[in-house]
Amino acid sequence: MAKYDMYNGSSDYIVSDELRNSVNIAIALQKPLLIKGEPGTGKTMLAQSIADSLGKNLLIWNIKSTTKAQEGLYVYDTVQRLYDSQFGDHDVADIKQYIKLGKLGEAFNYEEQVVLLIDEIDKADLEFPNDLLWELDQMSFYIPETKETVTAKNRPIVIVTSNAEKELPDAFLRRCIFHYIAFPDPEGMEKIIRVHHPKLEKKLLEQAMETFYMLREVPHLQKRPSTSELIDWLQALVVGGINPNTIKSELPFLGVLLKKNEDLDTLLNGLYKKSQTQSRTVISSSLNRYR
Ligand SMILES: Nc1ncnc2c1ncn2[C@@H]1O[C@H](COP(=O)(O)OP(=O)(O)O)[C@@H](O)[C@H]1O
Ligand SMILES: [Mg+2]
Repeated sequence: MAKYDMYNGSSDYIVSDELRNSVNIAIALQKPLLIKGEPGTGKTMLAQSIADSLGKNLLIWNIKSTTKAQEGLYVYDTVQRLYDSQFGDHDVADIKQYIKLGKLGEAFNYEEQVVLLIDEIDKADLEFPNDLLWELDQMSFYIPETKETVTAKNRPIVIVTSNAEKELPDAFLRRCIFHYIAFPDPEGMEKIIRVHHPKLEKKLLEQAMETFYMLREVPHLQKRPSTSELIDWLQALVVGGINPNTIKSELPFLGVLLKKNEDLDTLLNGLYKKSQTQSRTVISSSLNRYR
């Protein structure tokens, strides 16, 4: 039986047993691993952790709304060729020098196996995943301009991430191993926090975490605060020398957690309705600082 590298997590990344298993199954079956989850749940960082843990290079293909599948294979730089034909001293007949491999092409061309992250695939249009099916299956593509075929020397470990609820095409889903990273519960979150802030005072962490999970429960927020915001907020609380006992009532540095004006309004309105006491004034005056 073929032996595969086993992913065992890395010191800077907290991974559940299920996620670790999904990674290892995807590696063994040589299928892309599709990771979904809300922003900040560590999807992008997982790819880095896999590369670190297996001692492999990581190639990142960041997908934008305008990205086309073809760009991941190669682009033919006709503009440069035209320029050279008029002003340069290159031999423009050699088309090869104008073929630039994309991330997928680069990954195929590596001598050793690499980890290829196709990050935020849902940003592109609906056809995008389908346009890559054949290449991801075959790990190979043809360049008509040079009559060359680029074939992976070693099948890369492919990690695909997606943020949105937007569904991906069935044909694409069928070929992937799927894993959903749930938002961490407080216990899991504490482990993640400890990686980033090993020396955090207990009381501060406790108060900040309670406030954080409370804020996430506020109905109708457009962008609920996530792990990365909590990590930044804790940093702000430490640097700001905030007294842990005031965190819940005063919500210091709230702008680090809630980044939309509408969300600050939503929170303020909610608090007005809930509370008739004097703490309402404290909170609203502290909220007013963010406007
Ligand atoms: N499991 C984890 N272990 C350690 N840090 C984490 C973990 N999940 C998230 N983080 C932290 O949260 C930040 C956001 O993670 P990221 O991978 O960018 O999320 P996503 O790609 O899902 O939006 C990371 O930079 C890291 O600091
Ligand atoms: Mg990401």
